[in-house]
Amino acid sequence: MNKELISLKNISKLYNGGQIKALDNITLSILQGEFVSIVGPSGSGKSTLLNIMSGLDKPTKGEVFFKNNKINSNKDWIDIRSKKIGFVFQKFNLLPTFTALENVEIPMFGVVNSSKKRRLKATELLCQVGLKDRLNHYSSELSGGEQQRVAIARSLSNSPDIIFADEPTGNLDSETSKSIIRLLLDIHLKFNRTLVIVTHNNEIAKLSNRTIHILDGEIVNKSS
Ligand SMILES: Nc1ncnc2c1ncn2[C@@H]1O[C@H](COP(=O)(O)OP(=O)(O)OP(=O)(O)O)[C@@H](O)[C@H]1O
Ligand SMILES: [Mg+2]
Repeated sequence: MNKELISLKNISKLYNGGQIKALDNITLSILQGEFVSIVGPSGSGKSTLLNIMSGLDKPTKGEVFFKNNKINSNKDWIDIRSKKIGFVFQKFNLLPTFTALENVEIPMFGVVNSSKKRRLKATELLCQVGLKDRLNHYSSELSGGEQQRVAIARSLSNSPDIIFADEPTGNLDSETSKSIIRLLLDIHLKFNRTLVIVTHNNEIAKLSNRTIHILDGEIVNKSS
């Protein structure tokens, strides 16, 4: 362990021509195998931070490194995002007119050539998240918790090194939230996947190895 997976150096993110400073000179590293939680009040910059760490957004200033290599271009990011990073969002972001299986298969296009292998892997992942009886349901036919399970299976489709989850239980009731967190923890522990979760929930933060506190775009305390 102790190997740096993703590092940010002096990252700032400005909006509206600099009027809004969403992130202010952030330097941090996520180590391989860690479970890190990111907490802070609404508007403090958590999602912006996650989006920059995962290449969904670009910083105004500063550098991002993946396994100690500086990410220089869009091509670098496309490569890393498609093969090394999984995402789980608060609103699930599934395609409603596609089945659970198809949603999980989509990220494998361009990575896994055989359609048979894609189907096999998607089936295996959906069984793993407890959805073996929902494989051919459209996502619009699934409950919120089931949709989030599909999203988690999808995030695992290319066996990523790291999973980023932005308030993954924000749209779920407390019982369903617990089962989703248990599932993410299980994946983290069993498969040694690095996990970074943005959360408002202290119980979830307590389960993590390390909590990063964000306030007004700055890190105020990196330890839990
Ligand atoms: N695309 C954008 N254009 C302008 N301002 C933005 C944009 N995205 C975010 N911001 C601003 O940047 C700041 C940080 O936003 P961010 O979404 O990262 O907060 P957050 O901590 O995730 O909040 P929440 O807990 O409500 O999700 C906020 O003041 C927000 O209004
Ligand atoms: Mg947010």
